[in-house]
Amino acid sequence: MATPRPQVILITGATSGIGGATAKCLAQRGHTVFGTGRHVPEGPGADGVTFVQMDVDDTASVERAVAAVLDQAGRIDAVINNAGFGIGGSVEDTSVEEAMELFQTNVFGVLRVCRAVLPGMRRRQDGAIVTVSSLGGRMGLPFQGLYAASKFAIEGMMESLRMEVRGLGVRVTLVEPGDVATGFTAARRLAAASAEGSAYRAPFLRALGQIESDERGGVPALAAARVVARVVEDRDPPLRTTVGKPDQRLAAVLQGLLPGGLFQRILADHYHLDRD
Ligand SMILES: NC(=O)c1ccc[n+]([C@@H]2O[C@H](COP(=O)([O-])OP(=O)(O)OC[C@H]3O[C@@H](n4cnc5c(N)ncnc54)[C@H](OP(=O)(O)O)[C@@H]3O)[C@@H](O)[C@H]2O)c1
Repeated sequence: MATPRPQVILITGATSGIGGATAKCLAQRGHTVFGTGRHVPEGPGADGVTFVQMDVDDTASVERAVAAVLDQAGRIDAVINNAGFGIGGSVEDTSVEEAMELFQTNVFGVLRVCRAVLPGMRRRQDGAIVTVSSLGGRMGLPFQGLYAASKFAIEGMMESLRMEVRGLGVRVTLVEPGDVATGFTAARRLAAASAEGSAYRAPFLRALGQIESDERGGVPALAAARVVARVVEDRDPPLRTTVGKPDQRLAAVLQGLLPGGLFQRILADHYHLDRD
């Protein structure tokens, strides 16, 4: 990659996984990087990343963190909406309360951060908003229905935002990873009703085993980080870009080519749904 124009970049969920690797990668490339999370290291972080506490579930926390970055750096050129987590369980077994907690972070967290940074970007007629979605934001996945719903929601939000701000100098992109080996697998919550006694217990456990094994065998966080970094530095980025193993990226293409029923049968087979 060519030497980039130095930017002030704010990354949510930079304490581990894709966000952590992206923060390091962008700092190494000469950018001023502020990494955020609920639990951040004290003082100046390693690898040239400055950490600021931010819980994306809390509007006041988001506003405080954005104000602290503006105080220190004077501007925010780019934001990477990366904080998020997953929930496993059938749609029927997922309570509205569990789904609302997921949406607080994965959907409303993105909205909160965008609303906090957009006024400055509009004033300066320059900015980039990169949102880490998922291939699960393109296709429903069994026993990850509410997670997929949260990623579909941000896909719609970012598609709309891109058109709204295109004349204002603000670039909007979605990065859609397939499986990436990070702390995401261990952090996944399970719907309480998916425990012993659930009508879906056997296929759920088979699918969850496959999901976890796919994630552990996924691409390293650095592979996703390099794609995010490339998009942040691109003055004319695409609306969407994928990252992951070739077969998973191909799935996103096949989904548009194959009849819907056939595509769902392939997914059902991959997740061992029909094996009773
Ligand atoms: N790993 C995969 O296979 C995969 C695939 C597709 C998409 N993704 C997406 O990639 C993004 C990053 O995930 P990852 O794989 O890097 O997982 P990870 O290692 O678990 O990292 C998640 C990050 O989000 C932060 N976070 C969680 N809740 C937060 C909150 N309420 N406020 C602020 N920060 C919060 C965590 O930091 P704290 O705990 O310090 O708050 C952590 O830094 C997520 O949006 C995920 O959906 C991951």
